[in-house]
Amino acid sequence: MKHATKIDHIAFAVKNLEESLHFYEAVLGLEVTHRETIEAEKIKVAFVRIGESFIELMEPTSEDSFVARSMKKHGQGFAHLCFATQSVDRIKDRIDEEGLMTLGDVREGAEGRRVLFLHPKDNAGVLTEFSEQAEDE
Ligand code: CO
Repeated sequence: MKHATKIDHIAFAVKNLEESLHFYEAVLGLEVTHRETIEAEKIKVAFVRIGESFIELMEPTSEDSFVARSMKKHGQGFAHLCFATQSVDRIKDRIDEEGLMTLGDVREGAEGRRVLFLHPKDNAGVLTEFSEQAEDE
């Protein structure tokens, strides 16, 4: 069975959300469909819809957030790839069965969705998120 149904979003770390949105809104003509401050991650995010997927832009709200620390090391740019999955618990079971490593446990991500992160070492350097949603969303 398929544990990933589509690419839900690709996330980029940015220094300034509003400046970075210019490219997507003014140049590409896309729309921001959701904004949120995620206190637990110390970031503010904006989601831009493109087809059935989204671009997530993440700006740290604190120097000690994961995103701020990783930007200090690697600069702005690619942060993670997120697959939609119908059950985060099922993909977590598969990850455990394969002996792969997660970053933390299942938690609440943007829009209150249940999410789980796979360590980048277990997907060729790509930090990989799974976001729970019905297949027809
Ligand atoms: Co994400």
